[in-house]
Amino acid sequence: MLPVDAARLAALRADFPILLSQVRGKPLSYLDNAATTLKPTPVVDAVTRHYRDEVSNIHRGVHFLSEQATAQYEESRSKVRRLLNAREDAEIIFTSGTTASINLVAQSWGRSQLKSGDEILVTGMEHHANIVPWQMLGDEKGVVLKHIPFLPDGSLDMEAARRLVGPRTKLLSFVHTSNALGTINPVTELIALAKSVGALTLVDAAQAVAHGPLDVQALGCDFLAFSGHKLYGPTGIGVLYGRHELLESMPPVTGGGDMILSVTWEKTLYAAPPARFEAGTPHICGVLGLGAAIDWLLAQGWDLLQGQEELLLREGTRMLSEIPGLKLIGTAPHKTSILSFTLDGIHPHDVGTILDSEGVAVRTGHHCAQPVMDAFGIPATARASLSPYNTAQDLERLVAGIRKAQRLFA
Ligand code: ALA
Repeated sequence: MLPVDAARLAALRADFPILLSQVRGKPLSYLDNAATTLKPTPVVDAVTRHYRDEVSNIHRGVHFLSEQATAQYEESRSKVRRLLNAREDAEIIFTSGTTASINLVAQSWGRSQLKSGDEILVTGMEHHANIVPWQMLGDEKGVVLKHIPFLPDGSLDMEAARRLVGPRTKLLSFVHTSNALGTINPVTELIALAKSVGALTLVDAAQAVAHGPLDVQALGCDFLAFSGHKLYGPTGIGVLYGRHELLESMPPVTGGGDMILSVTWEKTLYAAPPARFEAGTPHICGVLGLGAAIDWLLAQGWDLLQGQEELLLREGTRMLSEIPGLKLIGTAPHKTSILSFTLDGIHPHDVGTILDSEGVAVRTGHHCAQPVMDAFGIPATARASLSPYNTAQDLERLVAGIRKAQRLFA
């Protein structure tokens, strides 16, 4: 496999010293990037610098360090706004991650706007984070949750989508890119479908944001959620993008400091978004780390990131397809660099354990997407998820580990 640009790739890899480490006495092949990406040195440095040299609370102090931290925090918000091409910084709310972002929409917009019989439509390939918040709302308010099934290759069944969307649909909340299958959904078409019945849209971009540009204005979505840690940033930080008019109309979910205009014993007046949704001292170093991650990502260039991922996906698909007894789960024509698979007669956890003993890190299980596993009639898969710092050698080590598992379980 020829690399896209050897010099640029080598420079990219050099930002991840962990790639040179050994686990269980073997060189590390980190193929669990859909769970969380590794963190490049500039991100680690941004977090360290904050705690070591610049620590302070934000929005509260008149002293130098507080003003500096506030400016850095708000600059990270602008970086997210530019990454998503949102209109205003105020449309960017920092949360603890995609899960918190979706729950915020459910508990704020959903709880205040929906009534019994209203329908939320999701896809059959959602992560639990885009199922459970709506079921919780359903229990409380009688809102009905429906899902669009997918075809055997993991592509969304768009005919079914057109049948399921109707006048009762109030929100189409869907995964941009499936973490369990790798499928990239027809985002523009789904948003147009929702708009045709006056429904709002929420895009779960957790598995998309590190793999290609996103433009919320071009897409025309109402909400979009992602997590920092899948974008080479820290854990515990995420984003909810919301259209300004919508956020303005939404009540807060968490009360406390920083989300108010004034508080008296009689009445509290709430701040405008985004502060209205960011009560309490936030994850300041997480936000700064996310800003550094965005800078790092954009400095690499999408041509390099996407080019290398496409090569790895193509090559990985070919190599795994040649293994007898291996079944790829998720073979949609439009998919991201995720290779989910089962092996005849071997439980995915056993595959994962043997791969681990060879230094190859994959995720095994239902990937927080149990309904996807149910649709395939399987309990779990093993999943190798690729990033541009992965190499042909990582794929070879994956294949060698799989073949070892087959020998041991023969
Ligand atoms: N949602 C993450 C994954 O797919 C944790 O592994």
